[in-house]
Amino acid sequence: MPDTLTLTDNRTGLTYEVPIEDGAVRANALRQVKVEEADFGLMSYDPAFLNTASVRSAITFIDGDVGILRYRGYPIEQLAVDSTYLETAFLLLFGELPTKDELARFEHEVTYHTFVHENVKTLMTGFRYDAHPMGMFVSVVAALGTLYPEASKVDDPDVRLAQVIRLIAKVPTIAAWSYRHNKGLPYVYPDNDLGFAENFLSMMFKMAESKYSPDPALVRALEVLFILHADHEQNCSANAMRAIGSSKVDPYSALAGAAAALYGPLHGGANEAVLRMLAQIGDVKHVPEFVERVKSGEGRLMGFGHRVYKNYDPRAKIIKETADSVFEVTGRNPLLDIALELEKIALEDEYFVSRKLYPNVDFYSGLIYQALGLPTAMFPVLFAIPRTAGWLAQWLEGIVDPEQKIARPRQIYIGAAERNYVPVDQRTAGARDLVAAH
Ligand code: CMC
Repeated sequence: MPDTLTLTDNRTGLTYEVPIEDGAVRANALRQVKVEEADFGLMSYDPAFLNTASVRSAITFIDGDVGILRYRGYPIEQLAVDSTYLETAFLLLFGELPTKDELARFEHEVTYHTFVHENVKTLMTGFRYDAHPMGMFVSVVAALGTLYPEASKVDDPDVRLAQVIRLIAKVPTIAAWSYRHNKGLPYVYPDNDLGFAENFLSMMFKMAESKYSPDPALVRALEVLFILHADHEQNCSANAMRAIGSSKVDPYSALAGAAAALYGPLHGGANEAVLRMLAQIGDVKHVPEFVERVKSGEGRLMGFGHRVYKNYDPRAKIIKETADSVFEVTGRNPLLDIALELEKIALEDEYFVSRKLYPNVDFYSGLIYQALGLPTAMFPVLFAIPRTAGWLAQWLEGIVDPEQKIARPRQIYIGAAERNYVPVDQRTAGARDLVAAH
């Protein structure tokens, strides 16, 4: 059997044979389908890319039906137990796990680039006292690019690598300072004796002590959360990173755009919504009543359901176990009992079972962040720190992919046909009146 698709255009009776490669047909193959020679040719229409692959990627594999997530072939469950965030970042960026020497060098390079130019500090102090930390993060990452004008040479592999190291190293500093700014506390400089997650906690919480030493169980929990959030193939922000990067702008500008996409409540903000929901339920005994309200269409069960996973999100399973190790140190988050009861009832309920709605990564992560003393406004920032590795891996892959050009979708124009300009005193309804009428 040939790997082709035969199309018949019923408008003309003509048939076309289109090759199938890797389970896909090239949308451009449809362009030959025309009624008249002068036609543009057939297009595919796919708002939100529901069934369109925009890249060929070797970074992250997801099988949402069975709940599989792998980075470069390695199961997320193994990386969460055996790896560190920086080792995982190396894997995502360069395709293989590092040798001992490579890892030591990468850790050294990242550690020694955690400081930011003092101008960054001056810039950050200019934000209003209550500026949202994610708004600060997005702006400061973009501003960082102005300090490295050479970053625009995106076709130079050495220049690319230097910016990759800088970005991975500096995002925790910017993130922690956005928190300190909100608190009105002095910014804490990086401590190069500490590991990646430990240093981040130090920049967040260090006060008068000469050395900040967080509980190792909490450091490991944060490291695991960083590993789990490092990449998730072509999600909204990764797609933004690739699309902006395809214009060959510097990676700081592209990454600021990706972070802006993550800022949205449908992407990086769901764990905050979970906490609000759990607080609103208030007590385990109100859970059945809340579930009934969701089933009758009154809102959604936040932290449940996923566009890709139609099974238990593998990250949620690991996060649930991580939560236990955190609560052993911090004490049990009282909202956990409500979450567990909610999960138990929902997993047995026909409404959720038939729609394949399972807990996603956000269902338990907010509880851990809260137990670590992190405010909800910081949740998307905590997501952005590790996702920086994923965004950069996606960007690097896109930059060297000979098939990638500047991202530029087509449209189906549905507006007015050509018409003549009407002088202002002859117009009846203005555009604003028309909008108001809708
Ligand atoms: N609670 C109740 N019903 C739901 C939920 C939910 N959380 N999610 C989906 N449904 C229902 C929905 O009403 C629909 O039912 P029906 O067929 O009767 O109309 C059906 O399930 C399919 O839903 P959909 O909206 O077509 O699914 P989607 O793939 O477009 O949406 C989602 C995916 C994640 C946006 C959605 O499940 C949701 O809103 N979940 C809650 C928010 C959340 O937890 N988001 C975090 C996503 S993971 C983090 C990330 O990747 O950024």
